[in-house]
Amino acid sequence: MDEKGSLLPQPQATASRSRTRSLWAQLAQVTVICVLLKISFDAVSSRFGGHDQPVAAFATCPQVEPLYPSQNPSLSKMDDYITSSKFINETVARMAGAIQIPSQSYDDMGPIGEDSRWDVMFDFAAYLQKTFPLTHRTLSLEKVNTHGLLYTWEGSDASLKPSVLMAHQDVVPVAEATVGQWTYPPFDGYFDGQFIWGRGSMDCKNNLIGIMEAVELLIEAGFTPKRTLVLSFGFDEEISGGFGAAYLAPALISRYGKDGAAIIVDEGAGTYSKWGTTFALPGVAEKGYIDVEIIVRMPGGHSSVPPAHNGIGVMSELITLIEANPYEPHLHSENPFLGLLQCGASHSSEFPSKLKKLLPSHNGETCSKKDKLALEAAKLGDEIKYLFTTSVAPDIISGGVKSNALPERTSVLVNHRVNVGDHPAEVQAKLTKLAEKVAEKHNLTVHAFNDDPETPRSIKLNSDGRTLEPAPVAPTSVDGVTPYSVLSGTTRALYGEDIVVAPGIMTGNTDTKFYWDLTTHIFRYGPGWDPEQEGLEGIHTVNEKLSIKAHIKGVQWYSMFIRNMDEADLD
Ligand SMILES: *[C@@H]1O[C@H](CO)[C@@H](O)[C@H](O)[C@H]1NC(C)=O
Ligand SMILES: *[C@@H]1O[C@H](CO)[C@@H](O)[C@H](O)[C@H]1NC(C)=O
Repeated sequence: MDEKGSLLPQPQATASRSRTRSLWAQLAQVTVICVLLKISFDAVSSRFGGHDQPVAAFATCPQVEPLYPSQNPSLSKMDDYITSSKFINETVARMAGAIQIPSQSYDDMGPIGEDSRWDVMFDFAAYLQKTFPLTHRTLSLEKVNTHGLLYTWEGSDASLKPSVLMAHQDVVPVAEATVGQWTYPPFDGYFDGQFIWGRGSMDCKNNLIGIMEAVELLIEAGFTPKRTLVLSFGFDEEISGGFGAAYLAPALISRYGKDGAAIIVDEGAGTYSKWGTTFALPGVAEKGYIDVEIIVRMPGGHSSVPPAHNGIGVMSELITLIEANPYEPHLHSENPFLGLLQCGASHSSEFPSKLKKLLPSHNGETCSKKDKLALEAAKLGDEIKYLFTTSVAPDIISGGVKSNALPERTSVLVNHRVNVGDHPAEVQAKLTKLAEKVAEKHNLTVHAFNDDPETPRSIKLNSDGRTLEPAPVAPTSVDGVTPYSVLSGTTRALYGEDIVVAPGIMTGNTDTKFYWDLTTHIFRYGPGWDPEQEGLEGIHTVNEKLSIKAHIKGVQWYSMFIRNMDEADLD
């Protein structure tokens, strides 16, 4: 993923923030969710006959039955084979081979065909071709924008929308200076009997190879799909996907149409223990994104005769003001974190009672406490707080060129991850207000998010093409057969019914940001889980490593999920 971004515990996060939404907008939303919750709760209460029965509480986080695909002798044999030591040895070697190809994507990559650093992707494609021969004989393969790999396993029933599995071929570069800090070299794919070490082992060659393994095995076992299966592998996810996913997604949308796919599963959140319960947390939402560049222009001059405030001083004042006005935690009704809290309250013995009391209840009385709930939940830690809070962080600053000259141009880049339910435009409005305050004090003109040129005494605010609304939230209803219920049921079949499947949120973005029109059923989920290796330690840094147990589980999951989707009566 392009950032460590998701769900529950994860290190990182910075300041805290304040809210700009009008009280009325919030009240309106609170009312809507109260009504909705009341309706669904009442329906279930009456079904289970009474308000006192604890079973009613589960209504807020219903779990589906484990879902097993149909079997035949060769598929059963395949299922057994995946856990055999022969297969484990073979897939370790195939993973190692994939890691040994250093498919790094750098921030400053030039165009394909000009920047030779892309050429390593040819090696990766050739490696897949050699390593998964049945897949290459059976599926069609299109190369999109040279290195995007688009595999299609045509189903027999063209009326069924395809399933789309995604992963990216590229990895985060290993900085030369950090190579020595790795326990095993980052591009060796060394296997120590428990872990396969190397860059990309978790992010996310494990998913890519896991998907290929599952397809290869299914072909070998004689499986033929009714529902078309598409594999879409970008090659620059770590630098935002502008060459890969930006071309692959439109190719698929033009082929299958808007909402033309049944489901997308891409890399993302995994399985975590919290409150004494193990949660699988497919990411159903992604926060939005906006970088704002602020430029303060002030007269230069000799620094021996300085004014009381120069450009650097004014910029400092503005940054101080930004930090003093953080966004506050806010749980919009569509924020899946509310669903996760409800799952915790329904299924976890150690769920904090303080939080439980603040959860919206069936009679609607406690709905006014939703902001209190957000504030209380934020105390669980910064990494939790930012699942329902817009983040703001000044990350890059520059100003001044000489020790004896006053700075004429000072700039700062402020990064934001926009809360689910909020919009980048609200971030722009808030920053404009703060800039106006400072500008007024220092008699400067504000040019906010327009094409005005920079003027000599001014504060100018710009945002760029990376600005992104929060992703549409994927539906998580399990009423009947839904894409989410198939995903949940597959997970509970593989890991058992102690696993609670709950909605997760991504604080970063994956390649799926280009795929919103292909389906609303987008899940960012790493299905392979080893309880002994929880979390994403090592991702994007030294000593990235993959538990072989988790990898085997991943292969099992993909092989089951493909079949379960094939049998699902969705359309
Ligand atoms: C798998 O590899 C291990 C370690 O190299 C070896 O001991 C074992 O015999 C292998 N198993 C098979 C079935 O090849
Ligand atoms: C503010 O700046 C304008 C020019 O940008 C100037 O005409 C005006 O006199 C200034 N006002 C004060 C109070 O300095």
